[in-house]
Amino acid sequence: MYPSSTPTSLIDLLQQPGLDFLMEAHNGLSARIVEETGFSGIWASGLSIAASLGVRDCNEASWTQILDVAEFMRDAAPSTPILLDGDSGFGNFNNVRRLVSKLEQRGIDGVCLEDKAFPKRNSFIEGEQLLESPEEFAGKIRAAKDSQDGSSFCVIARLEGFIAGLPKDEVLDRADIYTDAGADAILVHSKRTDASEIFSFLNDWDRDCPIVVVPTTYSDTPAESLEAAGISLAIWANHLMRSSLHAMQETCRLIYRNRSPVESESTIAPLSEVFRLQRMDELKEAESRYGASSQATGQGSEASSRHSAPDPADVILPD
Ligand code: SPV
Ligand code: MG
Repeated sequence: MYPSSTPTSLIDLLQQPGLDFLMEAHNGLSARIVEETGFSGIWASGLSIAASLGVRDCNEASWTQILDVAEFMRDAAPSTPILLDGDSGFGNFNNVRRLVSKLEQRGIDGVCLEDKAFPKRNSFIEGEQLLESPEEFAGKIRAAKDSQDGSSFCVIARLEGFIAGLPKDEVLDRADIYTDAGADAILVHSKRTDASEIFSFLNDWDRDCPIVVVPTTYSDTPAESLEAAGISLAIWANHLMRSSLHAMQETCRLIYRNRSPVESESTIAPLSEVFRLQRMDELKEAESRYGASSQATGQGSEASSRHSAPDPADVILPD
């Protein structure tokens, strides 16, 4: 099941010809599922992380809480590039500098920053969307690029102009300014139910800077059309969070109604699958090398067997 090809960096994904995809994850477990499915990269979605923490996508979770989630994702999916949704940078250019250096320290491959005012609100929430001035936002992009240590760290500038109702010319002007500021790619966002706004933007886009899109509301646009328009990366931004939400609600209702989990057992993952995703096999193998029982010492081996990892084969719940 694991991808056999060597992982490609985010920068390579952006620069190589053709369209590729990032899949959303919001914790270590979902990141591992994305990695083993074979996606080229992971989108650490602000909306999905916030939702999984039970808060709103309005900068209610602090940036260090987001960073901690990203670290679990990094550990769980060590071979797949992670692009963190950095919202509007959690403050000004100075906060962006610190964010970038902490992300690099934790092995995150890139950050996407959007030109909205702090605190941001999710792009699909009704009501006014406040933008930052293009000059101020360009300063954040420059600060991010200047403060990165590693040459492969990637900074993507996200245009929220269409979301806020700006005319196309102004959105294009902003894209120009952010490209000049050193962005590795431009993400152009739209809340239309078709891709017309994106395609119209691309028609007039003549810079040599890769384009990223988030086809949430126009998800029925064929991949071939996105590719033909010259898009480098498309992000499926929230689909794992949404699918798990649905599954949890269904299971919860069923067990509540039946006063028993029997009917849901056949539709939920067996514990053996949970243990497999947690890599209990690795812990078992490590125990045989490092655990007290590996040294066959009386007291130690008893203690160690009390705490040893369950063998997935020992799990007796139905598969
Ligand atoms: C996210 O996944 O948090 C995003 C994409 O930023 S969107 O929800 O479309 O704003
Ligand atoms: Mg977001």
